[in-house]
Amino acid sequence: NRRVTVRDLIAAKERGEKWPMLTAYDAMTASVFDEAGVPVLLVGDSMGNCHLGYDTTVPVTLDEMTMLSAAVVRGTSRALVIGDLPFGSYQEGPVQALRSATRLVKEAGVGAVKLEGGERSLAQTELLVQSGIPVMSHLGLTPQSVNTMGYRVQGRGDEDAHRLVRDAKAAEAAGAFAVVLELVPAELAAEVTRSLHIPTVGIGAGAACDAQVLVYTDMMGLTPGKMPRFVKQYADLRAQMVSAARAFSEDVVGGTFPEESHTFH
Ligand code: KIV
Ligand code: NA
Repeated sequence: NRRVTVRDLIAAKERGEKWPMLTAYDAMTASVFDEAGVPVLLVGDSMGNCHLGYDTTVPVTLDEMTMLSAAVVRGTSRALVIGDLPFGSYQEGPVQALRSATRLVKEAGVGAVKLEGGERSLAQTELLVQSGIPVMSHLGLTPQSVNTMGYRVQGRGDEDAHRLVRDAKAAEAAGAFAVVLELVPAELAAEVTRSLHIPTVGIGAGAACDAQVLVYTDMMGLTPGKMPRFVKQYADLRAQMVSAARAFSEDVVGGTFPEESHTFH
């Protein structure tokens, strides 16, 4: 009954087995996904958008990541918990990256970290892996670069496609144990998946990836507004929670809650 490890995920690729990953930002939700048998939970810096009320992932701090990652670790016993290195916590160089990742490992107890960029994060990935911290790389659309990149499909056109393949190979050579591909044409994601020994984790990257990840608030129907095309909605929790909160409010205002069964004498 041990936790899933990064070696289990690489072995799964060798056996041709796909695996799911969901984000989680708190102990309660993480315990639900652990109970469901989801093997890998990502404490994504998407928490900035879907948990902390920021407009982007850019403002998320290492303190916030550490606190919520610790909660996710406490809420789970089986899943591998991966913590995102937030914007500004690794771009200065390998030493800063090691200091930040070490906090997530020691204070929060994560089993691995994720950082954005292939070649541009090569030195960071190498030092973390050499130091004993497994690294997941994140390529394609990298939301921490929203101010230069915007939010659109990446790797279209020969030059961009070649750069993505180079980045993925650089991440693997630096010792990354997996590569997230976000918003990448399916054909390109399939090519990257074939050319790596480590697993690819797709989000908006087609069906050929070795694993798939979704932001849990999107797939559970909690996120307000229109969802991107790559999201499949598996539940409608927002509507259920709105109607439950309304029903409670009406009961209290109308004096029908609490009932005798909820009352002590
Ligand atoms: O922060 C996040 O949720 C992510 C996933 C979309 C891969 O980085
Ligand atoms: Na992220």
